[in-house]
Amino acid sequence: MTTIRVLGSAAGGGFPQWNCNCHNCDGVRRGTVRATPRTQSSIALFGDGPDAILVNASPDILQQLRQTPALQPARAPRDSAIAAVLLMDAQIDHVTGLLMLREHRHALPLYATAAVLDDLGAAFPLTRMLSHFCGVQTHALPCDATPFTVPPLAGMRLTAVPLQSKAPPYSPSRNAPRIGDNIGLRIEDCRSGRRAFYAPGLGSVDDRVFAELRDADAVLVDGTFWREDEMQALGFSAKAAADMGHLPLSGPGGMIEILDRLPAARKILIHINNTNPVLVEDSPERAELARHGIELACDGMEIAL
Ligand code: MLT
Ligand code: MN
Ligand code: ZN
Repeated sequence: MTTIRVLGSAAGGGFPQWNCNCHNCDGVRRGTVRATPRTQSSIALFGDGPDAILVNASPDILQQLRQTPALQPARAPRDSAIAAVLLMDAQIDHVTGLLMLREHRHALPLYATAAVLDDLGAAFPLTRMLSHFCGVQTHALPCDATPFTVPPLAGMRLTAVPLQSKAPPYSPSRNAPRIGDNIGLRIEDCRSGRRAFYAPGLGSVDDRVFAELRDADAVLVDGTFWREDEMQALGFSAKAAADMGHLPLSGPGGMIEILDRLPAARKILIHINNTNPVLVEDSPERAELARHGIELACDGMEIAL
């Protein structure tokens, strides 16, 4: 069996975000809104054994490891269930946790596209920095829909699906997109044939991505913003959702409309920004998700395939 465990369900900054006093962040700190704190964006994939693939390495990784005993099987004096790290992009909220894994006993197997490995070797040189600690053993992911497996998790077939989103603000490719700046991940259990599609950063849904979503039993997709102008309306940023590579949930052509067209048994939003009203459990926006059969990921959620 393949199990997806959500380690962090919030977008960059987490919930509450350290310097934010928006309605949600202030309210969850004071206990005046019904909402649950969330750490930054990451999932772990488990097969039948103790080993796991870490998908994205969040700045909150150490907290996530403490909250997930299954990631410390204690087979040796120094141990971890993390057999490899796989990255969806080179965004700060998805890669910074690599620095926290520097005590790994061997070179850390790292699966990412050539575009992402390029950013992490130069503009944000994490792989060069880690070469002074455990080192990384890089595996460039194919962007042509060729499935791959990550040892020792032989019962899980993975496929990288290039997406339209955004390279990180620090990347020389921020405004000159390359194929592989952002991917989604098809996760297939070889025995059951059941599959999930994971895409925490999704700026637009073309035919190819729609086919991935349509053929999945469970989708875990970008729920960053409710509105296209969410950050602008609050005065927090001049950028619209599209400028950051995220498709908002509401409105014509938004994620709710897309999810409505899917047969998936589970439609789950992930990478939720702290400003998003769906975080408030008794909000009208959260009720709207429920009416559409859409779930909100929380830290610790498990999805079995
Ligand atoms: C994003 O998902 O747009 C980025 O992670 C934002 C950020 O790096 O703060
Ligand atoms: Mn992000
Ligand atoms: Zn906030």
